Amino acid sequence: MSSDSNVPSAMSNPGTVPYPLPTSSRGAERHRLDDMHQGIARYMKRITYAPLQNPSRILELGSGTGAWTIKAAETYPAAQVTAADMSPLPNDLNLPSNVTFKQMNFLESFPFKPESFDVVHMRFVMMHLPEPQEVVSRLASLIRPGGWLLLEEPNHTLLDANNDIGPGVRELYKGYHEHMRRQGVDPQIGMRIRTLLEDSKEFSEVNETVIPFYVNPKSTSDPDLQEVGQILKYSMDGVYIGIMEKVGPAAGISPEIMRAWREEVNDPSKDLRLDMHMTWSRKKQ
Ligand SMILES: C[S@@+](CC[C@H](N)C(=O)[O-])C[C@H]1O[C@@H](n2cnc3c(N)ncnc32)[C@H](O)[C@@H]1O
Repeated sequence: MSSDSNVPSAMSNPGTVPYPLPTSSRGAERHRLDDMHQGIARYMKRITYAPLQNPSRILELGSGTGAWTIKAAETYPAAQVTAADMSPLPNDLNLPSNVTFKQMNFLESFPFKPESFDVVHMRFVMMHLPEPQEVVSRLASLIRPGGWLLLEEPNHTLLDANNDIGPGVRELYKGYHEHMRRQGVDPQIGMRIRTLLEDSKEFSEVNETVIPFYVNPKSTSDPDLQEVGQILKYSMDGVYIGIMEKVGPAAGISPEIMRAWREEVNDPSKDLRLDMHMTWSRKKQ
């Protein structure tokens, strides 16, 4: 297990936070994240695939709008649930009394005692953090032996079942991926998560299931998957608009590329999907 004294320089400099999206607790970004949470929750029918047994200390890193935190607090009312993010939770939430919030930058040392949580959850956040192998070790250090790390990350690109990716989709991800890599983060972290967890040697079991978010409804007959795919499509639209506004041309997404991307994702002849990697790993005893 590594300590925070080993954290590489990018992690101790808050000026380098590579997060390209607007604040998660307000406006369209809040709706987008809440809708995505609802779609995933309806599909999963639970907050995690891990066999949690009455955890008493739960930490969510990157709590965003608070949607998963609140569901965890309601599911385990006897647990103390800590939500953490660089952005405050929305101020109009009716927070359960077992939730506390800590504002922090994950690139700096965590203000928690080692092994002080039964469960740590992080979703759609690893893709914004540099040095992911180091991050996995730092997360593992927060979990008690036998506790669970729940990491859930997309492979942020669109795949086509017929290998029929057109120029709109290709150009958008080429520019955006290059931008994110210049920031030191891996937008396609989803497909590496399992290996990162296994390579850390911190876990006695690493489990993964991949949920295909189908962008074109005809790709699946499962209504829950169709629904989450449609939410994803409009959600990604919001992501790229937000990135264009916040980062500007350096992010590699222009209005023309965006138009071509939209045309392709709405083309009924396509069979596009984004893979969401859900993992649950048990810390060694
Ligand atoms: C895409 S949102 C996901 C929110 C939530 N986990 C969900 O699934 O809806 C990513 C969240 O991570 C937070 N975040 C990103 N980088 C961060 C950092 N370096 N330190 C603290 N929070 C960070 C953002 O503020 C944002 O709320």
